[in-house]
Amino acid sequence: MSLHVETNLAHIQDFATHPDKHGASHFPIYNTGTFDLKKQSGDEVYDYTRSGNPTREVLENLFTHVENGAGCVCTHTGIAAVALLFETVLKANSHVIVEADCYGGTFRLLKIFEDKYNVIVHFKNFLHVEELEEVLKNNPIDLILCESPTNPGLKIIDLEAVAKVSKKYNSLFAVDNSLATFMSQRPLDLGADFSLFSTTKYISGHGSVVAGAIVSKTKELAKQIGFYANAHGRSQNPMDVFLISLGIPTLKIRMKEHEKNALVVAEFLEEQSYISRVTFPALKSHSQYELAKKQMDFIPGLFCADFKSVELAEQFIEKTKIFGEKCSFGSPDSRIEIPAKISHATFSKEELEAIGILESTVRFSIGLENVEDLLADIKQAIDV
Ligand SMILES: Cc1ncc(COP(=O)(O)O)c(C=O)c1O
Repeated sequence: MSLHVETNLAHIQDFATHPDKHGASHFPIYNTGTFDLKKQSGDEVYDYTRSGNPTREVLENLFTHVENGAGCVCTHTGIAAVALLFETVLKANSHVIVEADCYGGTFRLLKIFEDKYNVIVHFKNFLHVEELEEVLKNNPIDLILCESPTNPGLKIIDLEAVAKVSKKYNSLFAVDNSLATFMSQRPLDLGADFSLFSTTKYISGHGSVVAGAIVSKTKELAKQIGFYANAHGRSQNPMDVFLISLGIPTLKIRMKEHEKNALVVAEFLEEQSYISRVTFPALKSHSQYELAKKQMDFIPGLFCADFKSVELAEQFIEKTKIFGEKCSFGSPDSRIEIPAKISHATFSKEELEAIGILESTVRFSIGLENVEDLLADIKQAIDV
């Protein structure tokens, strides 16, 4: 029987490779480094937690299933999943095409690969698929990578269109699904070869852990990712799997509430005289509203607001009481940050402006508080 994603998430313990003989309602945490080979038999023996662990496998099996993939590796951070992808599919002098609007940590990692391994990175605007095709025609591209929605620009990439062009030129295509999550969008169904994500955000949902995962479309790709995960020591520890598993069953209701609250706050800010623009795919004013609704079941509660001056943005950050000045997103508490100063400080001012992010842009991650409290906090912070 094919079950909905949220039903699978509510029954996470059923994804254990070996069912618990006591029928425990939470799967056991094997917090061990090693396993005794003399005490196991059959094909599926565990020897060392870096290579395989029954607790981690629960998450890996679940993520493989809900992303409709062929295998998954859970990693110790979200950026480790990005690094593992690069370590697996890139070599010295490889060419990659990356959406210019990407997470600052991914951008920094690409700069390292450029400097150390002469990887050639073509940063492009993925809204113009014909520009990607031009690069693909003229260069041997090993990998295409984008987020959708993008962080911080909140662009929606037509994943099916990019997958089509990547297949035509035999490139691999990876989607960073950290914002939307598999609850909302399944990139492998749209033609991607990899769906990777930071589980630090909405998936764990409580700001208590940093972690990530990468799901592969085919068994062959999954095997290669698994090989490098073990060789480079990218795998996640079992206690973090436990923390993530506590948030997973409620992902759908949290995503819904994040979206609902974020829409109220974004609509309010759109009307304020101190704001010049609010960029949020759930707003009708977003140029890709239709695509966002078609491609995602829920719109993640993350948006950007351009204040009319840097001073106003800074005053707002200083004076709000409920909103913490924190990076990351997808936690129960609402948070704000200036991407140019924090999450995307690795970009130059010009690189940020090219993707529509100003020094006065504030990124909002809207949490699960009562939205009236959030509005009251915003009103008392800016008195104009
Ligand atoms: C889109 C995106 N991908 C990857 C990462 C990296 O995840 P982590 O912080 O868990 O390493 C982040 C972190 O903010 C992100 O926003």
